[in-house]
Amino acid sequence: MKEPDAHANPPVDGSELIRFDHVTKRFGGNTVLDGLDFSVDAGKHVTLIGPSGSGKTTILRLLMTLLKPDEGTITVAGEQLFPASEKQVREVRKKIGMVFQQFNLFPNMKVLRNITEAPVTVLGLSKDEAEQRARDLLDLVGLADKCDAYPTQLSGGQQQRVAIARALAMRPQVLLLDEVTSALDPELVAGVLDVLRDIARTTDITMLCVTHEMNFARDISDQVLMFDSGHVIESGPPEKIFGDPEHDRTREFLGAVL
Ligand SMILES: Nc1ncnc2c1ncn2[C@@H]1O[C@H](COP(=O)(O)OP(=O)(O)OP(=O)(O)O)[C@@H](O)[C@H]1O
Ligand SMILES: [Mg+2]
Repeated sequence: MKEPDAHANPPVDGSELIRFDHVTKRFGGNTVLDGLDFSVDAGKHVTLIGPSGSGKTTILRLLMTLLKPDEGTITVAGEQLFPASEKQVREVRKKIGMVFQQFNLFPNMKVLRNITEAPVTVLGLSKDEAEQRARDLLDLVGLADKCDAYPTQLSGGQQQRVAIARALAMRPQVLLLDEVTSALDPELVAGVLDVLRDIARTTDITMLCVTHEMNFARDISDQVLMFDSGHVIESGPPEKIFGDPEHDRTREFLGAVL
């Protein structure tokens, strides 16, 4: 398996890449994030766990600048996201790749073009450079032979692997993964998780994952954050959170999902 090239401006390992300071997000009268504080260091793999509807996707959508916080600050690689000029937001967005539960591939484009589109239009790569990068990434996710397929000609697991390749093609500093296997048939889950395990093992990319796959979380995470009622209620290495959690709420949650 080939490793993707290093990122354009790699952050110094161990420096803080993402920071939420007292972030509050409300939808009408529903306070979803309530003074949320957490940070993710460059190169680390952090997993966010917590009950359905607790706000995990909201955290990722704030990072993608798809939502704005009501209070607090969010910083990515030292740049504050809100308030920020459009140019700053564009620059920050280039540092972040996201893979969604529902792959969201461009249905009218072949696999190769799905991956080359943004590097050409946003990063200004030549078509040849972008195609070479896309072919290397398709190799990485085990789909070298699918360049000319349309998304509907692929299985869900294959589509999700294309979506991962597409996110990596932008050489983001951080990859956000939102329950990327939860829409897949059970027999397709392992292949996608294996690709992500390889990426975690062979690249220096920072990962922030929301997942219900607790074995995967245990394998790849440097740190697990248990999130509920708008806060991180407990965090630590996976051995601690899964093996000896402090909080009753964490025990109760893990009892229900493990
Ligand atoms: N655009 C929106 N407008 C109104 N309410 C919203 C919006 N987006 C999310 N919410 C509400 O915010 C809360 C958190 O939603 P979110 O999708 O972040 O949860 P989650 O932790 O990702 O849940 P799940 O594990 O089911 O994916 C929910 O109560 C949801 O109904
Ligand atoms: Mg969600």
